[in-house]
Amino acid sequence: MRIGTLGAGNMADALATQWARAGHEVFIGARTPAKAEALAARIGAGARGGTLGEAAEFGEAVLLAVWWEAAPDVVEAVADALDGKVLIDCTNPTGPPDFTLRTGGGPSAAQRIADAARGGARVVKAFNTCHESVWRLTPPVFGGRPLGVPLCGDDADALDAVRGLVRDIGCEPVDGGGLDRAGLLEATTAFAIGVWAAGGDPAAMFPPVETAGPPPVKTAAQAP
Ligand SMILES: NC(=O)c1ccc[n+]([C@@H]2O[C@H](COP(=O)([O-])OP(=O)(O)OC[C@H]3O[C@@H](n4cnc5c(N)ncnc54)[C@H](OP(=O)(O)O)[C@@H]3O)[C@@H](O)[C@H]2O)c1
Repeated sequence: MRIGTLGAGNMADALATQWARAGHEVFIGARTPAKAEALAARIGAGARGGTLGEAAEFGEAVLLAVWWEAAPDVVEAVADALDGKVLIDCTNPTGPPDFTLRTGGGPSAAQRIADAARGGARVVKAFNTCHESVWRLTPPVFGGRPLGVPLCGDDADALDAVRGLVRDIGCEPVDGGGLDRAGLLEATTAFAIGVWAAGGDPAAMFPPVETAGPPPVKTAAQAP
């Protein structure tokens, strides 16, 4: 698959390096093309670098990896090139010192990004749950269990494509529902980052599923 990145920082580095290793064609895009070219050279495997617009044009899937505050403007500027593309939103609209949601109770970051793309991109929220160092592990497996990566999105083909990219880095996709659930994922992640920043262990909050009893409400798919 051809993958573009919007951003040439830590997340673009971590994930594009993995995807290039897995055999995908990678194009790093940044507002400073020299930074994108330097990262592409580091990644090797035929990776190329250039502008944000070139990366959006190049990718069948495009990873949005800029800070949340800049994300809607970055997407809006390349919206035409993103039409019909899979847009992977890994942004976390949170940060120190309080780790509250910067979306302030309004639409999720993912929804605002979809709106900034004027509805043309097929947005999937993914890869926002862990620190970039985790995405660099080969593979991210803990206690023999591959890391689960929650995905929220509305387009079945886009979700399938991102599931493939999750498996390519040795992780397991977790169905997180539609894009209307992305805000829950963003809030859960902000909470977990806050626990972690305060010295706690977010992974300790949830028991193994085998011990958790039956789900409280059967979904439509489970009903007889
Ligand atoms: N770091 C993590 O562990 C982690 C984990 C999960 C999710 N995330 C999310 O992933 C996203 C990227 O994080 P990161 O760690 O990769 O950040 P980073 O290393 O600081 O890189 C940020 C990238 O965004 C670009 N950028 C910033 N403002 C911009 C603007 N106005 N226009 C165009 N480009 C702009 C930067 O370009 P310049 O170099 O030119 O400034 C840089 O390429 C964030 O939304 C973050 O919440 C991060």
